[in-house]
Amino acid sequence: MSDVNKKDETAADHGRCMLNRRQFLMYSGTAAVAASTISISLFPGEAQAKARVVTYPRKKVAQLSQLKDNQPLDFNYPDDGPNSQCFVVNMGGAKAGGGVGSRRDVVAFSYLCTHQGGPMNGKYQAVGEHRVLGQCPLHLSTYDLTRHGIIVSGQAYQSIPQVLLEVDGDDVYAVGIMGLLFGRNQNLMDA
Ligand code: FES
Repeated sequence: MSDVNKKDETAADHGRCMLNRRQFLMYSGTAAVAASTISISLFPGEAQAKARVVTYPRKKVAQLSQLKDNQPLDFNYPDDGPNSQCFVVNMGGAKAGGGVGSRRDVVAFSYLCTHQGGPMNGKYQAVGEHRVLGQCPLHLSTYDLTRHGIIVSGQAYQSIPQVLLEVDGDDVYAVGIMGLLFGRNQNLMDA
């Protein structure tokens, strides 16, 4: 038996999920890119199944030392195609779900409202302890950036897509997206 098979069998015996955090967050049925195939076994005693894993580009979007409190920095992700406008922001000590950095306050999101694609560039707000994106100029939706971009008011019914970040030293990298970018049927256009 090869070392690889031995490793899989051991994991299956213990019922361990063989997805690491990044792979788990990026796995998404029809939107997946067959960049690689891995074996998973989610429950003890269950046979292993093959799963396709989405592979987003890893893109440097900022340096921690360059981010000023509550001043968003724009970038495009996961490509430079339509509806890829995003921003990264240091929320001035407001700890956030998915936040990185020593205070867990650096987050990144899409600018496009999930309702009908209203552009929310320039709509980041820091008011007291609240950090929101909105109001959308079309129908006034507002999203809570400390809680993975959930809706707090307005016409939208889906969270604003959150760009997943990793930090390597002073560098901040985009590594994936939670949620579907407005106007796309899959985030990765070449999937
Ligand atoms: S497009 Fe943003 S609320 Fe309708």
